[in-house]
Amino acid sequence: MPDGGDLVAANTRFVTEEELNTQRQYEQKVKSLLESRYEDKPLACVVTYGCQQNVADSEHIKGMLETMGYAFTDKRDEAKLVIFNTCAVREHAEDRVYGNVGALKKYKLANPDVVIALCGCMMQQEHIADKIHESFPFVDLVFGTHVVHQLPELLYTAMTRRKRVFELPDIDGVIAEGLPVRRDNDSKAWLPIMYGCNNFCTYCVVPYVRGRERSRKVADIICEFKQLVRDGYKEITLLGQNVNSYGKDLEPRVTFAELLRMLSKIDGDFRIRFMTSHPKDCTKELLETMAQCDKVATHLHLPFQSGNDRVLRAMNRGYTREKYLSLINYAKDLMGDALSITSDIIVGFPGETYEEFLDTLSLVKEIKATGLFTFIYSPRVGTPAAQMDDPVPHEEKAKWLAEILDAQEKISAENMKLHAGKTFKCFVVGRGKLGDNYLAARTDGNLIIEFIGDDGLIGTFQNIKVIEPLTFVMRGEIVK
Ligand code: 5AD
Ligand code: SF4
Repeated sequence: MPDGGDLVAANTRFVTEEELNTQRQYEQKVKSLLESRYEDKPLACVVTYGCQQNVADSEHIKGMLETMGYAFTDKRDEAKLVIFNTCAVREHAEDRVYGNVGALKKYKLANPDVVIALCGCMMQQEHIADKIHESFPFVDLVFGTHVVHQLPELLYTAMTRRKRVFELPDIDGVIAEGLPVRRDNDSKAWLPIMYGCNNFCTYCVVPYVRGRERSRKVADIICEFKQLVRDGYKEITLLGQNVNSYGKDLEPRVTFAELLRMLSKIDGDFRIRFMTSHPKDCTKELLETMAQCDKVATHLHLPFQSGNDRVLRAMNRGYTREKYLSLINYAKDLMGDALSITSDIIVGFPGETYEEFLDTLSLVKEIKATGLFTFIYSPRVGTPAAQMDDPVPHEEKAKWLAEILDAQEKISAENMKLHAGKTFKCFVVGRGKLGDNYLAARTDGNLIIEFIGDDGLIGTFQNIKVIEPLTFVMRGEIVK
């Protein structure tokens, strides 16, 4: 196995040190400008929609803004800079953005010095950027997913020229190392290991807006990981659209399982999570690594989307129901009760019949997941599925979805009962909901146990015994 020090990516374009230095100079220019305009540190409000990758991007955006001299607020109407980091994965997410941007119009008109900026996956689509340009003239800055590292320069331009800035290059993507970061949480961290997606599932917009798959160098990941451990982070989640294809573009090649092994050998008390795994590329080696490495959580988020082979083919998913089940069964053989499975499901893919949907329902019943993320199919401009006939009305699809939720609720309750009396090593995430003095803690398998405890335990690992399984959480007590 390579030690990770000498690996280089073959085709990826890395943002150069020179380009980063230019941005650092712009950070200082924005800082001076802000100091000349405002007595106190101006406030920025960064609103994030969508997945963890967006959350991770926003943490870099906030890191850069902090360097530029901004402080932060959650209140849009007290901010001098409002940034919406948007999501394009479903229509609902886009509608929320339009509503929220529209609501800023009055505020911007009353406060012309306020900068309104939009970025993220939604903006990377041409038809959306055009719509923003025409219908939301008070938006000052729109930038795409491949130029986040250029924020200082773009912001400076938007603030100094009386011109709107739209920067949306349509490229395969870059990797920018060494950007400042301001993390939202001080014990739980997101660590992107790769960007983009090459899978082109027929319903999905992500490959069009996030570019081609590109892996960060092993050495850069290890360096960031070690820093997180030194800074006291306890739960580190490795991120990628398809973490199982990590390293395919590196020379020499390295597998995701090898990366996990390298990270789990690092000294310290921490737990590694990762998402998302794709069944097409999920290997036995990965499942064995999960089972063998104590620091790797035995939680597998492995979306199957549909349980019907014809629908899976139409989705271009690259696996069958049988292949998916064989992976799950292998993982269960290796990890037994410790394994927790979660999945994403799409209901009502174009042309899906009720009979085909029943295959999804039966797969739900068969795998007994700990949790499901369920979605009604949402047509995305430019994707092949958006061209397919879609005769089933939305209300009908909503009924199918309700059938899945109903089945899963029973499964979750049954799963919970199996845990009565067991003790889990848990990470205490924060205050609980069962009562004032309750804390919430997460098991390796991503289940929540609430127990009575002191706030000082937040951010630590504790052994907790399950006393009473409830529907969505369990009640427990701390054991020494
Ligand atoms: N419609 C509905 N759900 C979608 N997803 C991705 N694209 C769509 C779409 N067009 C879901 C998939 C994916 C999750 C992140 O979002 O289930 O795994
Ligand atoms: Fe979208 Fe499929 Fe890529 Fe996931 S693997 S981001 S669902 S195209």
